[in-house]
Amino acid sequence: MTLFQAANNKTSSQDSIEKRLEIQNLLDTNLIVSSRPGIDVIEGLNRTAKSIPVRYFYDNRGSELFEEICELPEYYLTRTEMSILKQYASEIAQSTGICELVELGSGSSTKTRVLLDAYNQLGYPLYYVPIDVSAGILESSARQLLADYPSLQVHALAGTYELALAQLQPSQLPSRMICFIGSTLGNLNSQECDAFFSHITATLQLGEYFLLGIDLQKPKDLLEAAYNDSQGVTAAFNLNMLEHLNWRFDGNFDTTQFEHWAFYNEAEHQIELHLRSLRSQTVELRALNFTVHFDEGETIFTEISRKFDLNTIQQQLNAKGLVTQKVWTDSNRWFGLLLCQMQA
Ligand code: AVI
Repeated sequence: MTLFQAANNKTSSQDSIEKRLEIQNLLDTNLIVSSRPGIDVIEGLNRTAKSIPVRYFYDNRGSELFEEICELPEYYLTRTEMSILKQYASEIAQSTGICELVELGSGSSTKTRVLLDAYNQLGYPLYYVPIDVSAGILESSARQLLADYPSLQVHALAGTYELALAQLQPSQLPSRMICFIGSTLGNLNSQECDAFFSHITATLQLGEYFLLGIDLQKPKDLLEAAYNDSQGVTAAFNLNMLEHLNWRFDGNFDTTQFEHWAFYNEAEHQIELHLRSLRSQTVELRALNFTVHFDEGETIFTEISRKFDLNTIQQQLNAKGLVTQKVWTDSNRWFGLLLCQMQA
């Protein structure tokens, strides 16, 4: 191949990517998120039991740290779910038949490749709708997927789950599967979880599918190790939330004066992440015109990560019309993958 031909080939594969990619930024067109920036932070830090909304984990650094967490030896979740997906992706594709894949919180779309491979191997057309709040990651991973799967079409939606689900167009293929993997469901409390399932059922047509990946209940020591890793990456992830607030709201949190605290609340079946103040201190978020005082030892609640029981979650899904077709787990029964179908 001459240099000229090589350059031409590159341009035409680039053209083909542009033709197969549509990106819609719902955050630009909806002022909901930015209408009163920081009000959720003020509300959380004004409570008697202080808290910061979980979404402040994910600035660029937070997303990078989360990717690092997924690789940690103690953090079994990502690896275990991936092994289940690899083992059963072809069964999933056979069960659903040709269908559009919608993924909530798609991030780098690493696990999606396993599903795309399975649908591809069956000769099915590939249509993928990744949804993520980070427009940058969304676009870069969509472009990479399009380069790797020449028959793939992508319609990416940058926005929150609620916005994106409300704006989904009818499926481009005979059926649709909404994927919510990675146990992100665990970061919602039970009311949020209930509302989330209602959004899913309002979006799916009868006969369409919901694929859910959840972390299961297991001994406390395994769980606590996963959120207190020996390299301190989870601690850095937790503390980065304060750096994020400093950057976003011109704050003066001193992260050396807080420590990471994670434990398993056995009664609630949830890991809890907190930040503990190491001394009495006052912090200012100048852009919000807001000052907050912390006593020594006082904590900020930053995250829950619920651990599920397979029977209970199936009953909750069933009550919403999401009937379980198949359930897969790993040999330790640490993680569960459920394929549900929308029924009347
Ligand atoms: C994103 N989510 C499923 C992770 C979890 O395990 O709940 C977030 C996380 N927090 C600390 N480590 C990982």
